[in-house]
Amino acid sequence: MTKRNVKHDVKDLSLAPKGKLKIEYAAMEMPVLRLIRERFSKEKPLAGVRMSGCLHITSETANLAITLKAGGADLVLCASNPLSTQDDVAAALVAEYGIPTFAIKGEDSGGEDSTYYQHIQAAIAHKPQLTMDDGADLVSVLHKSYPEQLPDVLGGTEETTTGVIRLRAMAKDGALKFPVLAVNDSDTKHLFDNRYGTGQSTVDGIIRATNLLLAGKTFVVGGYGWCGRGLAMRARGMGAIVAVTEVNPVRALEASMDGFLVMPMAEAAKVGDIFVTATGGLHMIDDAHYDLMKDGAVLANTGHFNVEINIPALAKRAVRRRQVREFVEEFTLADGRRLYLLGDGRLINLAAAEGHPASVMDMSFANQALGAEYMKKNASSLKPQVYTIPAEIDREIARLKLQGMGIQIDTLTPEQVKYLQSWEEGT
Ligand SMILES: NC(=O)c1ccc[n+]([C@@H]2O[C@H](COP(=O)([O-])OP(=O)(O)OC[C@H]3O[C@@H](n4cnc5c(N)ncnc54)[C@H](O)[C@@H]3O)[C@@H](O)[C@H]2O)c1
Repeated sequence: MTKRNVKHDVKDLSLAPKGKLKIEYAAMEMPVLRLIRERFSKEKPLAGVRMSGCLHITSETANLAITLKAGGADLVLCASNPLSTQDDVAAALVAEYGIPTFAIKGEDSGGEDSTYYQHIQAAIAHKPQLTMDDGADLVSVLHKSYPEQLPDVLGGTEETTTGVIRLRAMAKDGALKFPVLAVNDSDTKHLFDNRYGTGQSTVDGIIRATNLLLAGKTFVVGGYGWCGRGLAMRARGMGAIVAVTEVNPVRALEASMDGFLVMPMAEAAKVGDIFVTATGGLHMIDDAHYDLMKDGAVLANTGHFNVEINIPALAKRAVRRRQVREFVEEFTLADGRRLYLLGDGRLINLAAAEGHPASVMDMSFANQALGAEYMKKNASSLKPQVYTIPAEIDREIARLKLQGMGIQIDTLTPEQVKYLQSWEEGT
């Protein structure tokens, strides 16, 4: 792999004023991050720490980056996905906030010398002491290609389910060389970001890409995890008939009792109008399923990597391919049926829409900011393992979010506390 060191690589710096407006607008919905930023400005908990963040470069991420910088971090950013960058935001990060950023929407990602990997290398050239990942690409490239830098890394944080799975696999093999906090495991992350954020923004991405009416359509959700649950719930809200596919019997049962149709993909393939994968796994829509699908079926993914739909197999079957709308590619099969792939099979909410609304990223990124502070303070006492963020931090984020939303809750009375703590009282 060629190693490079450049200052920034964004599409067009003249987009910066538009990006700044977007960043400021998103900040309105991010009260928790604002409170953290105010404290960070005074206390400087990350003073002088070199940080590299490999994240979706969106207006919400920009607010996180500004918060880390306010805390004293010396921060560099690169894209965690070739299609998720908002070019105006990337320009503003560089020109308005002085944060070196390496991210261009649509950058090529085929192979180790592609722009996507060059951008990751630029973030690594910053010699990070703390890493911040969304999908573990930064940590993975650091370990594979830059082992000489590993002793200088205090620790990292990881945003998403797929990244946490990769990191746990590295830790299990003894390959992980520094501790990482699994932001995704916080309740204030996956219960809201994965469920309500992905649920809404995935529907938004599909609609923006296709302008299809969801009412009356059969909408197949692949995987009933946190993302799948949110997506199924929101698709039903739009009037779709929702079918869920699963491999986990408990989750399949839950989907059924939540009122959704549950069936194997081989059955769903015959009836679905729109398919969305949300498993974090490989080829849940596979070659054989293409034989069964209806003319006009739409295929999209909202899981982290673009491997959930077997795109090479679809490409191999196609007798004709054409781009019919910006994020819609038509594949015509030998028997004349047409299948429509959205956003190259990449996370459709980030490719065709704007990712999660700021209100949920407020909590996810509060976990990132407080996680970075925690890692800086505690790295020396942590092993090279994957840890969850302490429950007190998770609860504090929920408390601050409620405060920001103007919602008050009850507190246990001393009498209630005593009751709950005693084993003697019964009926
Ligand atoms: N689009 C976004 O903005 C966004 C946001 C958060 C997470 N993610 C990503 O979405 C993916 C899912 O995340 P999650 O938090 O819902 O994960 P999860 O682990 O909670 O759920 C995944 C579900 O998929 C099921 N599954 C796995 N393989 C399957 C198969 N072949 N067929 C049917 N079901 C299968 C699992 O049993 C599980 O219930 C991950 O890749 C994650 O990183 C995307």
